[in-house]
Amino acid sequence: MIKNSIYNCNVIQLSKIHNRAGNITIVEGNLNVPFPIKRIYYLYDIPSNEFRGGHAHKVLHQLIVAVGGSFDILLDDGLNKKIIRLNRPDYGLLVLPGIWRELCEFSSGSVCLVLASEVYDADDYIRDYETFIDYTK
Ligand code: TYD
Repeated sequence: MIKNSIYNCNVIQLSKIHNRAGNITIVEGNLNVPFPIKRIYYLYDIPSNEFRGGHAHKVLHQLIVAVGGSFDILLDDGLNKKIIRLNRPDYGLLVLPGIWRELCEFSSGSVCLVLASEVYDADDYIRDYETFIDYTK
């Protein structure tokens, strides 16, 4: 697994074109995010007391955007942890491979958009925290 630091998982400001009819934000792979976008998915209808994630990826890069509402993302590289609150559709959090993540504190009606660098691969997941810690050593 690639070893990365939470300090390299930054919030990226995305474009926002505004006019009287509202806003549009555009994300292009290899341009606004440092990877090609091969897959998108989104989480919604999340009960307020639930959490998602609870895993790391071996090679997958992701950009996570709160396109509606807000939620917290806990990042953990095995040494350090940080919590980032996303609450704007024109900002995204870059989550690198080798980083444990948990998403929680979803506001009512929130939508979590994920742009991913790879197609789905169950073997790319590390779902056990002790296994993750072993990987990071
Ligand atoms: P999972 O990644 O565990 O969700 P989260 O990290 O948000 O809690 O995925 C939930 C289920 O959806 C699991 O059965 C795998 C499946 N899934 C796919 O089939 N394809 C995908 O691209 C994703 C992201 C999940």
